[in-house]
Amino acid sequence: MFAGFARQWTPLLPLSEVTSKPRREVLAGEALVIWRVDRDTVAVLLDRCPHRGVSLSLGSRTQTGRLACSFHGWEFDSTGGCARIPLNPGADRSRRGATALPHRQIGGLLWVFTGFDPDEEPHVPDSLTDPGLVRFVHHETWDAHWTRAMENMLDYPHLPYVHRTTIGRFVRAKQRPDSVLHQKVETTEYGYELTPWLDDEPPGATLRWYRPNSMLLNTMPAPKHLRIQIYCIPTEENRVRMLLISTRNFARTPAASPAFDLFNLKVLHQDRAIVESSDPVEVPPPGREKSVPSDKATLTFRAWYLRNLKES
Ligand code: FES
Repeated sequence: MFAGFARQWTPLLPLSEVTSKPRREVLAGEALVIWRVDRDTVAVLLDRCPHRGVSLSLGSRTQTGRLACSFHGWEFDSTGGCARIPLNPGADRSRRGATALPHRQIGGLLWVFTGFDPDEEPHVPDSLTDPGLVRFVHHETWDAHWTRAMENMLDYPHLPYVHRTTIGRFVRAKQRPDSVLHQKVETTEYGYELTPWLDDEPPGATLRWYRPNSMLLNTMPAPKHLRIQIYCIPTEENRVRMLLISTRNFARTPAASPAFDLFNLKVLHQDRAIVESSDPVEVPPPGREKSVPSDKATLTFRAWYLRNLKES
């Protein structure tokens, strides 16, 4: 199960999209059914009825918050427990449950664990939970392997090229024909923090990798806060959901938001064709492609993925 992405926490979608109507979602190749049980409770089960294997997401929520399978009406609670088997009141329900997955509701997102017994909680950046920030949330799906998308997000040297009209224009303005990009990669409990700088210019933006599948770009020094967080979430084979959350602590009026939001979408869309054109689709071992010192941050991710996750 969850081949190549096993035993990981990842946000899957905004909680605002989880309703009483059972919803099918595919995470790392596994179909899930998700529904809101009540105001505080969300259920996440494998989308497979234990009776005859049909999709539970074809069913409906009962008045008590259970999910009723569409085929023979078996009912399951939020833990997957079988709560009712119509026409068979004497049947032992304890052995006929569905499979539930660990999940959390944090920062307006539904987090799912791709396994059954997490030994740690998800690493959640404070920008997702700080109530004092203006927040923009958007997701879309690309035809790409999540590892190519993740490397793109961690790849600072592409900014003055792919993003020369947006977040890369200041780098491009300072870049000389003989410029050198320096990068400090500091290991942290959540992944790493990358500090890039050009020649003898002082460092500006910092970038973080949150294992396994997220990048946080911090574009302004404190106390100003202007960040973009992107999660590269594997769904079906060679498909990735790009979940973008931008946060800021200034220009708080609603009238200011469209300009920021459109800018962030423009940045994201500048990457799409590049990532979707990758061949091979999934990141290969480092020796299969020609790398240079400025690839340090992406190669760090690639080595971790190939060593820890690819065969999981
Ligand atoms: S297949 Fe679900 S109740 Fe029979």
